[in-house]
Amino acid sequence: MDGLSVVIIGGGAGLGLLLAEMAVEAGATGLGIIDVNAEAAEAALAPARKAGVKAAFAVGDIRTADSAHAAFNDIAGQLGRVDTVINSAAIYPRKPMLEITDADWDASNAVNIKGTFHICVAAIKQFRAQESDAIVKGRIVNITSVDAFKAHPQNAHYAATKAAVVSLTKSFAHEVAPDNILVNSVAPAGMATEKAREAGFLGELAAASPLGRGGKPREMAEWVMMAGGPKNTYMTGENIIVSGGYIYA
Ligand SMILES: NC(=O)c1ccc[n+]([C@@H]2O[C@H](COP(=O)([O-])OP(=O)(O)OC[C@H]3O[C@@H](n4cnc5c(N)ncnc54)[C@H](O)[C@@H]3O)[C@@H](O)[C@H]2O)c1
Repeated sequence: MDGLSVVIIGGGAGLGLLLAEMAVEAGATGLGIIDVNAEAAEAALAPARKAGVKAAFAVGDIRTADSAHAAFNDIAGQLGRVDTVINSAAIYPRKPMLEITDADWDASNAVNIKGTFHICVAAIKQFRAQESDAIVKGRIVNITSVDAFKAHPQNAHYAATKAAVVSLTKSFAHEVAPDNILVNSVAPAGMATEKAREAGFLGELAAASPLGRGGKPREMAEWVMMAGGPKNTYMTGENIIVSGGYIYA
């Protein structure tokens, strides 16, 4: 992320929080966090502030266009420019497949699909409006999941939302390829974030991995850094699966 101004949605916890720290380690010159949790969003800026990196947070609920765009534009204004946007915010409730209600669908669709969509639109408008002499005019990385690619009756609605984000990633990539904006996604297997630990499914996922263990958040985050960082100049519309072999098995 050397020299880039990076905005992380859902950067208040878990993978997004780790990415905030890693972006600063990797030389980001700006860090913005958008999260519904104000306290967590501000706390996520600590490494950036310590390193003297330009830092900004905005409290925003990405489920609606107004709130998502307001938060994004607030951050972009505070940072001055945005080069990389990472969509890590999501919810992942589990429920037996035949018991999933309309309310369950609406909740998951709103954050995971619509929220990702709203932020992609806001990011692209920003990338198109700002001056840049770099070849790549902006990068977006959406976090999907291995669940998008395997049968997942334990959380079928979540898995379907992540498959939708894989699709959105391709459509956005094609829409903005003429602008030299790169849009990709990364699909992690189960990883030990605090939320995932609380949800209690990590043992089951580790057992399903040919490597015999679950992934660490950093092992997933490295691929997000690659897709959203300056070394990526030619990959777009792709989904990187980091599954510890879970997908081929
Ligand atoms: N943890 C896993 O095992 C795992 C596996 C595969 C994929 N993923 C994906 O990785 C990403 C990160 O997962 P995590 O475990 O770090 O999650 P997490 O719950 O720890 O962090 C998500 C963050 O998003 C924020 N958020 C939630 N709803 C929001 C909204 N409406 N508007 C703004 N912010 C909102 C939360 O406040 C939180 O800070 C998610 O996209 C998840 O689907 C996680």
